[in-house]
Amino acid sequence: MRIGILTGGGDCPGLNAVIRAATRRALSRGHEVVGIREGWRGLLDDNLMQLGPREISGILPRGGTIVGTSRTNPFKVDGGAERVARHFTGGFLDALVAIGGEDTLGVAARLYREHDAPVVGVPKTIDNDLSGTDYTFGFDTAVSIATEAIDRLHTTAESHNRVMVVEVMGRHAGWIALHSGIAGGADVILIPEQKVTVEETCTLLRKRHDGGKSFSIVVVSEGYELTYESGESRLVAGEARATDQFGHVALGGVGDALGREIEQRTGFETRVTVLGHVQRGGTPTARDRVLATRYGLKAADLVEERRFGRMAALHGDDIVDVSLDEATAELKTVPPEWYEVAKPFFG
Ligand code: F6P
Repeated sequence: MRIGILTGGGDCPGLNAVIRAATRRALSRGHEVVGIREGWRGLLDDNLMQLGPREISGILPRGGTIVGTSRTNPFKVDGGAERVARHFTGGFLDALVAIGGEDTLGVAARLYREHDAPVVGVPKTIDNDLSGTDYTFGFDTAVSIATEAIDRLHTTAESHNRVMVVEVMGRHAGWIALHSGIAGGADVILIPEQKVTVEETCTLLRKRHDGGKSFSIVVVSEGYELTYESGESRLVAGEARATDQFGHVALGGVGDALGREIEQRTGFETRVTVLGHVQRGGTPTARDRVLATRYGLKAADLVEERRFGRMAALHGDDIVDVSLDEATAELKTVPPEWYEVAKPFFG
């Protein structure tokens, strides 16, 4: 078989570990493996690279993706889906491993459904918002980086008697904020799924300071809507640029807006840290390397068994497979019971 591998959407620690594992297993079975450059765009532009033992050597700990990535949506390009599908009907590719989040795997699911494309998926995203799997790879690394930042902010917050607001990524799911906030001992955690108001946040901070603490840490997810007692709420979008090909606005900026509100309302000196893409860059944690490796091997097995339209997934401690349709049907957001783990430590 000639097997293609592509990575789509935002890059994520562990992508290279998946590429390595899937390629190693496929090569050992006598197949040929090609990397599709820059996500779905590589299939539109026929931009490919050979993946052999030399190309995958030494990439396990490396962040980013050796085949590149993009947010290209072939369904938004005139004749794009047909151009992609022709690679399979024309005998150029016998199978494709698509490594991505809801957007990339949404395209994979549609290509399988509407064009019978021989595609399998691997769940990637630091946001951990993909259904059908307990965890995506990359999430553990992002949480570790954010937790380390919160730890560091604690000491400077304490020295200056300040409130530190830390804005983390996660798009419309608060998983990174919740986990790093719990691990870092945050005094308030604000996520898109919970409508905690600015007034409630300030009350929690005042209570904490009245109780004798002179500093506080607030972790806010970029997708949290600034919400007020009056019922008004607003999503703070980043740069005023158009949505991407999947219809997403660029988030970012809620930390600054919240920091200003806290300082004005409480009088506590407040500083804001936006962690941004540092959460996505660099080497994956050991846990993500292991998870990515298991996903990569599973993807190669699904291809071998010709079980297309499936995605590797983690259920408990087992690697299983689920349908791409199930995985992309809806976003996996933070359920209320998870927020209850954080709340006892607020204020
Ligand atoms: O989906 C991963 C993610 O890092 C989100 O958490 C974030 O909102 C977005 O990608 C940022 O996208 P970009 O890399 O285009 O700035």
